[in-house]
Amino acid sequence: MSSKLGTLFRVTTFGESHGKGVGAVVDGCPPGLSIGEKDIQPQLDRRRPGQSRLATDRNEADQVTILSGVENGRALGSPIAMCVANKDQRPGDYVDMRSIPRPSHADYTYQAKYGIRTMSGGGRSSARETIGRVAAGAIAEKFLFEDYGIEIVAWVTSVGTIVAADVDETRISRKQVDDTAVRCPAKKVAEQMIRAITDAKEANDSLGGIVSCVCRNVPAGLGEPVFDKLEARLAHAMLSIPATKGFEIGSGFAGSRMTGSTHNDPFVKKEDGLGTASNYSGGVQGGISNGEPILFRVAFKPPATIGKAQKTVDFAGNEVTLEAKGRHDPCVVPRAVPIVETMAALVIADLALQQRSRGITE
Ligand SMILES: Cc1cc2nc3c(=O)[nH]c(=O)nc-3n(C[C@H](O)[C@H](O)[C@H](O)COP(=O)(O)O)c2cc1C
Repeated sequence: MSSKLGTLFRVTTFGESHGKGVGAVVDGCPPGLSIGEKDIQPQLDRRRPGQSRLATDRNEADQVTILSGVENGRALGSPIAMCVANKDQRPGDYVDMRSIPRPSHADYTYQAKYGIRTMSGGGRSSARETIGRVAAGAIAEKFLFEDYGIEIVAWVTSVGTIVAADVDETRISRKQVDDTAVRCPAKKVAEQMIRAITDAKEANDSLGGIVSCVCRNVPAGLGEPVFDKLEARLAHAMLSIPATKGFEIGSGFAGSRMTGSTHNDPFVKKEDGLGTASNYSGGVQGGISNGEPILFRVAFKPPATIGKAQKTVDFAGNEVTLEAKGRHDPCVVPRAVPIVETMAALVIADLALQQRSRGITE
């Protein structure tokens, strides 16, 4: 099933990578929200293929059209359907791969699940599916900013073994992130990352990486006990993005190597209530936001489709050597940045609406 992410702010995505188009339906957007294609397009542009030499050469404009649910620039409260046409399909690139399941891609598992699969491109497993998520999430971002002042910024922290030093997450902006093609705000490290991705592409290979994300101005109180804890909802959303392999919030796995006395976040008095002096919790305690910035990281694997020769077997079990054709991302993290941001927005918007439904204002 491709429905639903969310309880009150619900999303369904549709479309295959080499079909006529992809998109999403958002149900539950608060009526009256000022929204239009101009609010959605910037995040789609940041996700789009062909935007730099670090991304796949597939050239798509990814222009969104709102089909329903919006009139005169205002959400009507009815389902908002959005569509993006696929234009630069080359199904011929996949002919050799029809009989060979790509190692570590989804060809084998889709065949096992449905008994049928799209023969050109990855179909629903392709990253083109994330267009619908980004379009839906851009609406959620607008709602969160207008109603709560919430800002969400993600950036690339590592590519392969190249790691950027900590950035000041209280200040980082999307403009700073977009200053480098790899979307890493540490410029010197970004150059090394760009070289590593270019080298991997030339070697017909691929690289993984990590995307960090901060959500600022999230009010205390969002997140549902017990199964829909904020961090559980974020982990679910992030691990539903293709190619993700790990999720950490706050101190994450490193926190397990600390002691309680060094890991605890002491409370301090702030203008509008209590805050914390440190933020190892990553802005979430007991599954509920505490008003501090929400900080998390998502690990992405090296993309599976590579031109380098790999020994594997075809669907019939015959040994073959696969040198994948087609246009593929040598590293997904620069394009994953807006996907992580918009998926975070979808989770927080849904939990904000759930909290509103309780009628508690403070
Ligand atoms: C922005 C983005 C771009 C991607 N581009 C490619 C690609 O060009 N080639 C590829 O094999 N996988 C690519 N992927 C990953 C595949 O979609 C994914 O690995 C595949 O569906 C199998 O799913 P899994 O890795 O989550 O198990 C991309 C993922 C993202 C988020």
